[in-house]
Amino acid sequence: MHKIIENAMERIPVLPHSMNCLFRVLKDPMANFDDLSAIVNQDPTLATQTLHLCNSAYYSFPVEVTSVSHAVTLIGMKTVAGLAMAAYFQGLLEPKGVSGSLWLGGAKDHVLATAQLAEFLVREMPVKESPGTAFTGGLLHDIGKLVLSRMPSEIATEVRNHMDEEGLSLLDAERIVLGTDHPEVGYRLAECWKVPEVIADVIRYHHMPMQSQYLLTLIVHVANTLVHQLNAKGPGVIEVSHIDPNVLYELHLTEDDVLTLVSNWIV
Ligand SMILES: [Fe+2]
Ligand SMILES: [Fe+2]
Repeated sequence: MHKIIENAMERIPVLPHSMNCLFRVLKDPMANFDDLSAIVNQDPTLATQTLHLCNSAYYSFPVEVTSVSHAVTLIGMKTVAGLAMAAYFQGLLEPKGVSGSLWLGGAKDHVLATAQLAEFLVREMPVKESPGTAFTGGLLHDIGKLVLSRMPSEIATEVRNHMDEEGLSLLDAERIVLGTDHPEVGYRLAECWKVPEVIADVIRYHHMPMQSQYLLTLIVHVANTLVHQLNAKGPGVIEVSHIDPNVLYELHLTEDDVLTLVSNWIV
């Protein structure tokens, strides 16, 4: 199985130079607007797609955002960097074949919503984390599924059978069939890509947040759990009990706080 995962990893396209540069912007406390603008504006497609995301209904700015500099004044440099990454990664998350539909079905919407909710939580909570880093953590948390979506279809079918016949979650079925799971595979990809350490931690521990030392991983865990529930049941049926109580304790959140935050985010 180890070899099959290695082969799937090799099918992931080499990360473009612009994405490596964006990771450096996220890591570097001295990075400035000129650094970001140079990266995004040197690729016209990336610039257009980034502005398209800025002008989406989610942000609902009263005026059209027409330049990267304008976007930065509205939502901050690191969030614009996150949106530029979203513009690129959304293209990679297109589900193809049996493995693609298992691991990437709905992934484009799921990771964008998780990114936006994680960013929102950081802005609303009394924490010092960067909203842009929260956005990127949410965006990349399931990146291991991108690797697994390149696995042979027989393996996807085996994972699906465990889910259907035993009522297992995708995560548990991955562990049975692969001997590993998408967070661990994603972490290996994150190491290859040299993503900022905090983002790599989010990727590795978003399903086991109490093993993380980063507050941001706890926040992305909450965002991921809530987005899954919103997707499955709709906004009226959020069950905070699905979030590890230890996570809420660490974040100084009550169940009522979470419900209020989610309803404010949905409005
Ligand atoms: Fe996940
Ligand atoms: Fe997820």
